[in-house]
Formats: sequence, C-alpha cells, structure tokens
Amino acid sequence: MNNEVIKCVDLVKTYNMGQVNEYRALKGINLTIKEGDFISIIGSSGSGKSTLLNLISCLDTPTSGDVYVDGTALSQLGDNDRARLRNKKLGFIFQQFNLLRGMTAYENVELTMRFAGIGKKERNEKVLELLKKVGLESKAKNRPTEMSGGEQQRVAIARALANDPRIILGDEPTGNLDTTTGATIMELLTELNQDQGKTLVMVTHDPAIAKKAHRTVKIKDGKLEEEVRGALIGNHNGDDLPHRKTIIKK
Ligand SMILES: Nc1ncnc2c1ncn2[C@@H]1O[C@H](COP(=O)(O)OP(=O)(O)OP(=O)(O)O)[C@@H](O)[C@H]1O
Ligand SMILES: [Mg+2]
Repeated sequence: MNNEVIKCVDLVKTYNMGQVNEYRALKGINLTIKEGDFISIIGSSGSGKSTLLNLISCLDTPTSGDVYVDGTALSQLGDNDRARLRNKKLGFIFQQFNLLRGMTAYENVELTMRFAGIGKKERNEKVLELLKKVGLESKAKNRPTEMSGGEQQRVAIARALANDPRIILGDEPTGNLDTTTGATIMELLTELNQDQGKTLVMVTHDPAIAKKAHRTVKIKDGKLEEEVRGALIGNHNGDDLPHRKTIIKK
C-alpha cells in the first residue's frame, strides 16, 4: 500500500502575460503522495494551490519539472494518452463545481462514463447508485440552476466518482457550502479514503478538512514551505508516518 501514486519533481509554473511580463506561480515543488494517503494543501490566496492541483490533474502543463502518476511521467504522454489517464485514474471536484448548465444532475454524472465508453445499462445503474450515495436521487432531473450550491457540489462529487478513480482531487470542495453540508461532504470523502483506500488530495482553507487529513502541506509564494504530518487517527496505512508533528523545511 505504499506505492507512490503521485510524484511532483521540481515543478515550476510560469504564467506569461504579454511578451515581457512573467509570473512564477510555482517555484520548484517536490511532493510525493502515496496510495491511500489523504493530503490537504493549504496556503493563502494566490500562493499557487490551484496551479499545483491543475498540474497534478493534467489540466495544465508545467514550465519545467514533471508530474508522475503511478510512475508515468505526464510529459511523456501525448494528449490522447493524457486524457485517457485522467479519465481512468483521476476524479476532480473543482472550486466552482463546473457542472454543465444545460444538463441534468443525472446527465452530468453520466458524462465521463460516456467518454469512457461504458454501456447504457451499466451507466444507468452507476449514476443512480452515486446520486443515492450523495443523497440526491430525487434531484436526478434537475439542472444546476434548479439546485442549491450544496446540491450542485454533491453532484460534482458524484461525477468525480463516476469512473471509480483511485485518486480524488478537490479544490476547495467545501468552500461554497454551509457548515452542515460541508461536514456531510467531508464524511463522504473520509469514507472513500478509509473504506475504499482512495487517495485524496484536497486544497482547502477549511480547518475541518486539514484536521482530517493524514498530512498537510503548506504552499507559500509558490514554494512548499513546510509539511506538517500528524492527525493519524483513522489513518489505515499511516504505519510509516511519524507520530509527532514534523516540520520539514524546504
Ligand atoms: N492564467 C494565469 N495567468 C497569470 N497569472 C495567473 C494565472 N493563473 C494564476 N495566476 C497567478 O498565479 C498565482 C497563483 O494562483 P492560484 O490560482 O494557484 O492561487 P491559489 O493558491 O489557488 O489561490 P486561491 O486560494 O485564491 O484560490 C496568483 O498570483 C495568480 O494571480
Ligand atoms: Mg485556488
């Protein structure tokens, strides 16, 4: 269970704005995430959290350095292979849900399964099972505009789970939710980690998430500033982690 599922090596991301204007959003990030880990990424607004998550999620490419998913360097894959890997292994919950507005809850959850070529009957069973899991069976036919923020977020979570990914990445998954709904979502995510061994990578400002995570890393000004390890309660495979808070200066 100690496979390295994600490895970031010397990740640099520079955004070009016009010809002379550059901004180094990530300045050399090294981070290894093991199978079954639950890691939270914290840091102030603009520190580079979403940028890092987008690189891990293959939604964007680094300026230099590389991300390895299950030992495969993303830079070595063509666009099609990268899209396939993303669809098969990774599930995302975005900062702004990103549900397709013209589609119902059902259709939003079903979509990635259609891309993966899964047959209609199997899709139907899975979509209904997932909507039930997030408590939204009765909203299957609603469109995003006909649902509350918390309901949309739950659809986004059901969608992230549709292809049964081993790695789930979230960018502020509870950021737009009230405390109670946020806690329900957290329970669901924690269950996926504890019961199914899914690897969770969550960007968050929410101390409740950071508390549940096995590891918390802090990004400051594009650098991994420190790694705080702890909160081992409920960590089913944390046998190799130290039991004290450890700060690793980068
Ligand atoms: N496409 C872009 N072009 C230029 N600069 C960008 C771009 N995207 C992000 N940035 C800059 O890179 C830095 C990191 O942005 P990022 O979105 O990763 O921050 P964040 O840590 O996720 O912040 P927040 O907590 O507010 O979501 C910011 O200073 C931002 O302005
Ligand atoms: Mg962000």
